[in-house]
Amino acid sequence: MMKSYFPEGFLWGGALAANQAEGAWDVDGKGMSVADVAKFKPDISKEDYISQWHVSSEDVKEAMRTDDIVYYPKRRGNDFYHRYKEDLALFKEMGFKTLRISIGWTRIFPNGIEEKPNQKGLDFYRNVLEEMNRLDIEPLVTLSHYEMPLYLVNEYDGWVGREVVDSFVHFSKIVVDEYKDLVKYWLTFNEIDSVFRHPFTTVGVLEDKYDNKQKAEEAIYQALHHQFVASSLITEYIHIVQPNGQVGAMLTKRMTYPETCNPEDVLLAQKENRENSFYADVQVFGEYPTFIKNEWEEKGFNITFAEGDEEIIKNHTVDFLSFSYYMSMVASVHADEREKVGGNLTTGVKNPYLETSDWGWQIDPRGLRISLVDLYDRYRIPLFIVENGIGAKDTVEEDGSIQDDYRIGYFQSHFKAMNEAIKDGVEIMGYTSWGCTDFISASTSQMEKRYGFIYVDIDDYGKGTYDRIKKKSFYWYKDVIGTNGASLYQ
Ligand code: BG6
Repeated sequence: MMKSYFPEGFLWGGALAANQAEGAWDVDGKGMSVADVAKFKPDISKEDYISQWHVSSEDVKEAMRTDDIVYYPKRRGNDFYHRYKEDLALFKEMGFKTLRISIGWTRIFPNGIEEKPNQKGLDFYRNVLEEMNRLDIEPLVTLSHYEMPLYLVNEYDGWVGREVVDSFVHFSKIVVDEYKDLVKYWLTFNEIDSVFRHPFTTVGVLEDKYDNKQKAEEAIYQALHHQFVASSLITEYIHIVQPNGQVGAMLTKRMTYPETCNPEDVLLAQKENRENSFYADVQVFGEYPTFIKNEWEEKGFNITFAEGDEEIIKNHTVDFLSFSYYMSMVASVHADEREKVGGNLTTGVKNPYLETSDWGWQIDPRGLRISLVDLYDRYRIPLFIVENGIGAKDTVEEDGSIQDDYRIGYFQSHFKAMNEAIKDGVEIMGYTSWGCTDFISASTSQMEKRYGFIYVDIDDYGKGTYDRIKKKSFYWYKDVIGTNGASLYQ
């Protein structure tokens, strides 16, 4: 029988993002961020989930004119801003060793350009981190998780403007200086590869500002380059001021299978996998892969590198690689003729061997094991799974319980896959499930797409008590953590 291979000190925990959990969008001096523009569209069909990411210049103007929090749900989140103590106590009760949070840039610098930080913003994160410290929960802090200041979007076209590198580095240095006594593990940019899937949220690029798709694509590459440079500059800074500090890159792991053994399918799958790896390649190996530079040349893209950029990227690579894992993909040269699956992270060919979630995401625990082995074989640095989970509709029973066996099943299979990968020799630092409490979905801005072990009583329109209720999975995860994975096999 299989046993638990999870090493002693394995960092079990959960993850959340400021823009989806905190709410309090205009409290204590916070400025407006790209997340405050995300609109909830109740009538959207499943097939159109992916289009929800799209934001136009008109959408931005409309959002700036209103202080509505019903249809702009990220403005209200699940009220972590006021309830963090209660939430942290529940995480502690589950046995969390770590918690991934992100710092809302606009809490510290409302417009991103101020010289002096907003003290109230700094105080909030100090309080959260000190409470975690008191509870012995190791923080894992993301510096940027889909929440850049809207001002920088309007002023500099988001990360296309080189000025934003300076703004972000300034913000990050303040944060590192302020919390380096409390935080050891840092991530720079959440899912840096999402830049092409949803450019507005990731780099503040409004595609309709460009003459055509090619021009927009070129601008996005420029913005991405600036994020790579900023990430390396911050990595350098942390390595200087915090000898025990460790910095991770953060990738959406999108593993693609060839549909058949037709070499054309295999080549296509390989291409997609290399495109996914590109983002980690730059941050781990310190250089752009040749195929990207060739692509730029072919498309006639002129990406500006300031003097010294290449050296900065080369010399300041990350210490570990973190990633999110939700699903796997299929590449087929006959994709047009195949059945598709929806999903709001990506769409693609349906894999007949896999089940899908209510939102069309293909559930693939074995894909997690394959991904872990592939990533470790490629990069040979420690890995950290910092997002994984299933978005599902939960029902509160008459007795007040939430019987989320589907969630337990999902985690059970993924944890076993992780354990097998450790047996395969993969070094994994820890695991943080996505959404330890329920909060607003990044892509659909729904509340009813729930990921947590802890139910939060709010509906899609923000109605409810905001009370926290432990789901069945809460007790199950507590057992897993308490036995360091052994309960998976009992
Ligand atoms: C990841 C993001 O892509 O997926 C999270 O980093 C997001 O912010 C998570 O919440 C799940 O996606 P969604 O759209 O279901 O919330």
